[in-house]
Amino acid sequence: MWFPFPLLLVHCSILVISFGVAESSDTLSFNQTLSDGQTLVSSGQVFELGFFSPGTSRNRYLGMWYRNLTPTYVWVANRNDPIVNSTAELALTQDGSLSLRNGSTSYWSVNTTAGASLQLLDDGNLVLKDDSGNYLWQSYDNVTDTLLPGMKLGWSLEKGLVRNMTSWASSTDPSSGQFTFSLDPPESPQLVLRKDGQKLYRWGPWNGVRFSGSNELRANPVFDPMFNSSPLEVYYSYQVVEDSVVSRFLLTWDGLIQYLSWRNSNEWTLMVTLQRDECDTYRKCGPFGSCYSGDTICKCLEGFLPTSPQNWNSVDWTDGCTRKWELDCRNGDGFVKYKDLKLPDNSRLSSNRSLSLEECEMECLNNCSCTAFTRIDIHGNGGDCVLWFEELIDMKNYPDGGDVLYIRMARAELDALADAKRKRLIRRAIGITLSVVCGLLTIGFIVWFILRKMRLKKRAAFERMLCQIPPERNEEDLELPLFDLVTINSATNEFSSENKIGQGGFGKVYKGALSSGKEIAVKRLSLDSGQGIQEFKNEVILIAKLQHRNLVKLLGCCIQGEERMLIYEFMPNKSLDHHLFDKTRSKLLSWDKRFNIIMGIARGLLYLHQDSRLRIIHRDLKPSNILLDSQMNPKISDFGIARIFQGEQTGEITKRVFGTYGYIAPEYALRGHISVKSDVFSFGVLVLEIVSGKKIMGFSQPDNDLNLLGYAWKLWNEGNPLELVDEAIGEPFPLKEVVRCIQVGLLCAQLRAEDRPMMSTVVLMLGNENFEVPQPKEPGFKNESMFIGSDSSSSANNNLHTFNEITITNLDGR
Ligand SMILES: *[C@@H]1O[C@H](CO)[C@@H](O)[C@H](O)[C@H]1NC(C)=O
Ligand SMILES: *[C@@H]1O[C@H](CO)[C@@H](O)[C@H](O)[C@H]1NC(C)=O
Ligand SMILES: *[C@@H]1O[C@H](CO)[C@@H](O)[C@H](O)[C@H]1NC(C)=O
Ligand SMILES: *[C@@H]1O[C@H](CO)[C@@H](O)[C@H](O)[C@H]1NC(C)=O
Ligand SMILES: *[C@@H]1O[C@H](CO)[C@@H](O)[C@H](O)[C@H]1NC(C)=O
Ligand SMILES: *[C@@H]1O[C@H](CO)[C@@H](O)[C@H](O)[C@H]1NC(C)=O
Ligand SMILES: *[C@@H]1O[C@H](CO)[C@@H](O)[C@H](O)[C@H]1NC(C)=O
Ligand SMILES: *[C@@H]1O[C@H](CO)[C@@H](O)[C@H](O)[C@H]1NC(C)=O
Repeated sequence: MWFPFPLLLVHCSILVISFGVAESSDTLSFNQTLSDGQTLVSSGQVFELGFFSPGTSRNRYLGMWYRNLTPTYVWVANRNDPIVNSTAELALTQDGSLSLRNGSTSYWSVNTTAGASLQLLDDGNLVLKDDSGNYLWQSYDNVTDTLLPGMKLGWSLEKGLVRNMTSWASSTDPSSGQFTFSLDPPESPQLVLRKDGQKLYRWGPWNGVRFSGSNELRANPVFDPMFNSSPLEVYYSYQVVEDSVVSRFLLTWDGLIQYLSWRNSNEWTLMVTLQRDECDTYRKCGPFGSCYSGDTICKCLEGFLPTSPQNWNSVDWTDGCTRKWELDCRNGDGFVKYKDLKLPDNSRLSSNRSLSLEECEMECLNNCSCTAFTRIDIHGNGGDCVLWFEELIDMKNYPDGGDVLYIRMARAELDALADAKRKRLIRRAIGITLSVVCGLLTIGFIVWFILRKMRLKKRAAFERMLCQIPPERNEEDLELPLFDLVTINSATNEFSSENKIGQGGFGKVYKGALSSGKEIAVKRLSLDSGQGIQEFKNEVILIAKLQHRNLVKLLGCCIQGEERMLIYEFMPNKSLDHHLFDKTRSKLLSWDKRFNIIMGIARGLLYLHQDSRLRIIHRDLKPSNILLDSQMNPKISDFGIARIFQGEQTGEITKRVFGTYGYIAPEYALRGHISVKSDVFSFGVLVLEIVSGKKIMGFSQPDNDLNLLGYAWKLWNEGNPLELVDEAIGEPFPLKEVVRCIQVGLLCAQLRAEDRPMMSTVVLMLGNENFEVPQPKEPGFKNESMFIGSDSSSSANNNLHTFNEITITNLDGR
């Protein structure tokens, strides 16, 4: 094909001796010149060669463009040596050499002799031929920033040629720019984009269909890529299936590799940009890390941990990951199969060409520095054994077009994996057994529930008796408006069931509207209420004194006969759990809203702990006690079991433990020790729930007994804290802020109360990007079954039953 004999005959017959070029000729013959203003046009009128100035530049260049499309220069001869303040002509001289010059000034030349004619072909190739029609030189061998169909990117080992693409310096300056795109090295080649010589992006190696990680460039009905790897030549090329389709690859001056197609619309349409996303950035995740598109998050491969967890968690992934277990070459290393990967950099082809997968594995196993292998069809002969040595870098998770890689692992890791697999099987068997047991347990539960109901009734009767005694008269109490029953009755439409918006252990909650139109929430303590007179007084006195925008506001109370009611401002958006744990509504909680809620709760709590006139410990902080106003601002509610501390007193031991399973701090649950740090613990749990959208309890993980706290701690140590983030958040979120919240959540929920920060510090850490957040230590409870398995000799143990019963204070949507 490169030696078209018939062409030679045609060429000889039209040989004309003259000093100019015939109108619209495709050939410059011996002794002819092409001067500024004249052009060569390929025979099919596709391409044109001549002089041009790009954009507003006054420099003149000899170049090639599509004859019938808006100026698009596909090749430039003198790109680094423009003709300035002068003119020049292209001449095929006496000795048969080709040069662009003015007198003795040469702007560009082809170092050859014996050239007989220069011809511009319809495929965009400019060829210098000798008398026999052999190509002495062709512009296809001198790639600039454009790869036309049929052009080759790569190496000709025979001719000693390297065909690289080099970008323009700017959109109007064709001189060699910073970016080069090449196929290298000749062995196990891959596509590499460099900026000033530094690797910026990389795809490969070729796997028979496409370069690993460049699924867009696989064959399709109009695009036919080709990769050739023979001892003489290694190249990537492509053809368009439909001849009428005009298309090209372009390395843009700012470093993008684009595939463009000329559409009927009379403009270039961008079909593909090879840099698909941030995850393609070279070495993004460091050694043994893999990048996940979408959120652009690095994760360590299974069996690896972040080299520097601190950097990793603060979204600096460059250190990558290290093995959990060091390799021990002679001691039972093996391989683990990883799927859906963009294959790592620096692959090497095994010198033994025709190996099966097993033989390839042996080849890698036998060399202690071999870290991974795979078998892909580079040469189109069924499969080649490809090996990696040392660290594996530049991988990406590629579910819709990744490759398989076998990575060398230590015996301990292989054993752990086998063990996990066995456990999974056993667990499945247990699962079936459990579902039977569950049926039996349900029956047991119903019986327990009936008995409990009867017990509660008995106690309620006693507390109703207590309620006959009016609350202590107190100056501050009197500041609180007392509503009369008639007002409340009419506001709530006689406590009609349509107005009921919540039901909890302490009573029902009704929505109401005063005659002024103001909306209120009325908490009507049930006659068989679990909240006794003491709790009622407590709540009234407390809340009346508290004024903060993140605390629910008590408008008044109503005491009449046996009725005890609290009148609150109405919260149209109900409570946090109503949104957080609901599939649909959680989607409305964007990250910004969640962060605002976290900050709000933190400020409210800080006020309770430090800033109000009293030191108050809430004791029952949980999502159902966080109400949301119309702007989704959080307000802490339900002070029924809060404790007031005087002066410097910071804590005490209490016999009666209240709170909610999962949210209460370990020292409080097990020893009855209460302090502001118990609220901090609950806050930590709350933060993790808000970030993850998952409940602390009933958080089921297929392969362990971890609760949300334990799970978050596990992810933190593995360097994957972002895996905790609620999928419902959707849109891209500020990674660093989210990680900081998780870190603060874990800090607050640490096992030892002394280690937990004060709320004042928490507010600082959350609100201040530059505040150094310490590394968290082990959290309080990590397992669902923590309580069940706890030390039964603990003195406060009996109390656990108490709080488990009394804690049901869900007063949704007060
Ligand atoms: C080319 O030009 C030179 C001098 O002008 C002349 O001697 C020579 O014969 C020419 N060659 C051909 C093939 O016309
Ligand atoms: C070209 O001409 C312009 C204006 O005459 C002058 O400013 C400039 O220096 C010249 N450039 C060169 C390379 O001679
Ligand atoms: C060479 O350049 C000068 C100006 O520098 C110009 O006048 C002359 O025409 C040029 N010669 C050719 C052959 O273009
Ligand atoms: C041209 O090629 C010859 C032989 O291939 C070489 O000796 C000479 O140095 C080259 N000249 C230039 C300017 O590259
Ligand atoms: C081919 O291009 C390179 C730069 O891309 C340049 O240095 C070289 O001179 C060109 N060779 C020819 C014959 O055009
Ligand atoms: C082509 O690119 C490779 C890899 O960057 C480089 O080694 C080689 O020197 C380049 N060759 C040319 C002619 O630009
Ligand atoms: C190539 O592999 C085959 C099969 O494993 C083996 O018999 C042969 O010795 C190997 N050759 C080399 C040069 O390693
Ligand atoms: C292992 O492979 C590396 C890289 O190919 C090579 O340099 C080294 O000599 C090999 N070692 C052995 C023991 O074969």
